[in-house]
This record gives sequence, structure tokens and C-alpha cells, in this order.
Amino acid sequence: MQIEGKNVLVTGASRGLGAALVSAALEEGAAKVYATARNPDDLPHQDDPRVVPLRLDITDPDQIRAAAEQAPDVDLLINNAGQLEGHDLLDDTLHAHRAAMETNYFGPLMVTRAFAPILKQRPEAGIVNILALLSLGNMRAKGGYCASKAAAWSLTSGLRALLAGDDIGVFSVFPGAMDTAMMEGSKVKKTPPEEVAHQILAGVRADREDIAPDPMSQKLLPMFAQDPKGFERMVAKW
Ligand SMILES: NC(=O)c1ccc[n+]([C@@H]2O[C@H](COP(=O)([O-])OP(=O)(O)OC[C@H]3O[C@@H](n4cnc5c(N)ncnc54)[C@H](OP(=O)(O)O)[C@@H]3O)[C@@H](O)[C@H]2O)c1
Repeated sequence: MQIEGKNVLVTGASRGLGAALVSAALEEGAAKVYATARNPDDLPHQDDPRVVPLRLDITDPDQIRAAAEQAPDVDLLINNAGQLEGHDLLDDTLHAHRAAMETNYFGPLMVTRAFAPILKQRPEAGIVNILALLSLGNMRAKGGYCASKAAAWSLTSGLRALLAGDDIGVFSVFPGAMDTAMMEGSKVKKTPPEEVAHQILAGVRADREDIAPDPMSQKLLPMFAQDPKGFERMVAKW
């Protein structure tokens, strides 16, 4: 799917990968980018005439409905917004685990349900779901987050099958560690989100359903494919 000339909507565009995806889409010639955030005042890129800032908390059904009314011509929906609640599966509060599911699973589900009728009307359309390598294995210190990202992975596979007849490409993105606020304080080697954003759009342009957008994911996604059990054991030790 081409990015040039298309209308793109990015959730969670206030910072990190979301902000980088807005920049990358503009650099690749998108006609319009709906940059969405819980607080639109936080959005960068406000000076670019192709950027339409919108308020969108992906856990709020009223805001989702309003966003779909204000963005009736989206070709490419990028479900990027996410959060890192839900740490220890046995000790953390259920509230934290539910919060992770609300943002990382129900959020993209609700946003996609609102935008699917719009995407079905467009001549060439796509949905990009930002998952994680941790969708594929459960890391002890981030158990609830991993579970919510695994649910989002399953959601993505389901959408791909459901929307294939409508010619809507559905892309799964499995980033490794990125240098964003979410990974602040972590000593692991991280890739700048700007590089990751360009790799994601390159994957969309190449119609690659499963996108490994950084060196860590390019090494580990093939490992998961070859040896899922070994991958599970490796992630459990992280
Ligand atoms: N960083 C990594 O190493 C890494 C690795 C794999 C996958 N990911 C995934 O990559 C995506 C982007 O994360 P990031 O690294 O850029 O993290 P980040 O810097 O923490 O940014 C998260 C973004 O999501 C937004 N957000 C959170 N809850 C939201 C809600 N309910 N409604 C709308 N927006 C909401 C935040 O907006 P506010 O400004 O309003 O808080 C922020 O813009 C996430 O899906 C994350 O799970 C990250």
C-alpha cells in the first residue's frame, strides 16, 4: 500500500513512536495526517497544513465516535497508542491489568470498529496495529502488558481474515525496545522511534503483513517463528 497521497490517522501522536509516525507519513508524502491525542495541545507538527489535530482518548467511546465523524476519509489507520500498566500477574492489582487491556486491546478494537466502515469505502486502505515482541512471549516483570499485547496480536489476525474480502491490508508490527518515554530508565539497547517509524511505513509499502521494524525484532521474530518454545523460555528470563 502506498503512503503518498493517502490520508493517515495515528493514535497516541503526542510523543514517542506516534509522533515519529506522523513525521514519517508527512515525509513520505501523505496528503493529510490526522494526529490524535488525549490532549491535542500536546501534539507536535501543529504548524504543518497537512496535519489535522484531533482529541482522541482510545478508551472513550464518545471521543472515538466524534473522531470518526471528523475524519471521514481515512485510508490508513495506525493504532499506536499504548501503555505499560500491569506488571506482576500475581501481585499487581487487577485494576492495573484491566487498564492494560482497556488501552492495548479494547482501545484498538473500538477505534477499528468505528473506522472500518470508512476504510471499506476507500479504494486502497489499511490498518497498522503496533504490537510488540512481547505480544509473543510473557516477560515476568511486565506480565499484564504482555497479555494485553498478545490479545492485540490475536485481534490483528482476526481483523486480517475479516477484512480480506474488503481489500483492506492489516499489518502487525512487532517492535523491540525503542527509545521512548515508555522505556525510560531501561538499560537495554533501544532504537530511535524515528527509524522505527520509517521501517514500519516501508513494511506497509511492501505489503508485508508482519513487520519487524528494528534490529532487535529483525533478530528475534524469525527466532519465534522457528522455535516458539525457546522464545517463550528466553522472554521469561528477561
Ligand atoms: N517503547 C518500546 O520499547 C515499545 C516496544 C514495543 C512496542 N511498543 C508500543 O509502541 C506504541 C507506542 O509506544 P511508545 O514507546 O511511543 O510509548 P510512549 O512514549 O509512552 O507513548 C505512548 C503514547 O500513547 C498515548 N496513549 C496512552 N494511553 C492512551 C489513550 N487511552 N488514548 C490515547 N492515547 C493514549 C500517550 O498519550 P499521552 O501523551 O496522552 O499519555 C502517548 O502518546 C505502544 O503501543 C507501545 O506498547 C513500545
